Amino acid sequence: MNILTAKNLQFAYGSETILKSVSFEIKKGDYVGLIGQNGSGKSTLLKLLLGLLQPTGGEIELFSEPIKKFHDWEKIGYVPQRSGIFDQSFPATVEEIVRMGLETKIDSKSKIHHALEMVEMAHLKDKQLRELSGGQQQRVLIARALVNQPELIFLDEPVVGVDTQSQHNFYQILHRLNKDLNLTLLLVSHDLDVVAHEADYLVMMTEGEICKCTKEMIEKDKKKYISLSHHHE
Ligand SMILES: Nc1ncnc2c1ncn2[C@@H]1O[C@H](COP(=O)(O)OP(=O)(O)O)[C@@H](O)[C@H]1O
Ligand SMILES: [Mg+2]
Repeated sequence: MNILTAKNLQFAYGSETILKSVSFEIKKGDYVGLIGQNGSGKSTLLKLLLGLLQPTGGEIELFSEPIKKFHDWEKIGYVPQRSGIFDQSFPATVEEIVRMGLETKIDSKSKIHHALEMVEMAHLKDKQLRELSGGQQQRVLIARALVNQPELIFLDEPVVGVDTQSQHNFYQILHRLNKDLNLTLLLVSHDLDVVAHEADYLVMMTEGEICKCTKEMIEKDKKKYISLSHHHE
């Protein structure tokens, strides 16, 4: 079953066209890596899929419903690109940050506890965010995305600025969520080698379109794919 379908999706910020024609689909349980150069429109695509931006053309279906009719937003978790919540001085505990993600307050204690357990952060629930390492803060944001027990999670460059060991732990957690809970993942990353290794397959954003690339294609033409996923700071 397709959990997500995009057909000929188009989008522009004013006169600047970002997406020309984006078509792709994700099936339940898929672990998809989304790559593409900085500025190619990856974050914009996620915002369209979350209904935060309106496409100028094309169609989106979520869980087999047109996005306009879709209301079960608790089925979708979102870890945005490094945001203000990472501000070291943000005055909130681990538990409070996760609570912010709740769609309904029913049974909130156990939902928060469960989400924190999944990322091995339950023992740190009363810590202030600023007391945590970058990798731990990252896991709190995943817990926040998990708290409504979603079926699909979008992660936008989640490990930028996190040390290598924490990145490794982070990918282990994602692997477990995908394999054990059959959680569907769409992971944006510019680290081609890592996502090619972690994800089931990759989709690449280039010149306003998306193409699916298999691991075999990437192995064959590594240089091309590295340059097309490179992050220009
Ligand atoms: N709110 C905005 N208003 C105008 N232009 C934007 C806005 N957000 C992003 N852009 C532009 O749209 C393009 C795609 O951005 P983005 O989706 O963030 O790319 P990526 O996530 O692949 O780096 C970039 O050229 C960026 O400057
Ligand atoms: Mg981005």
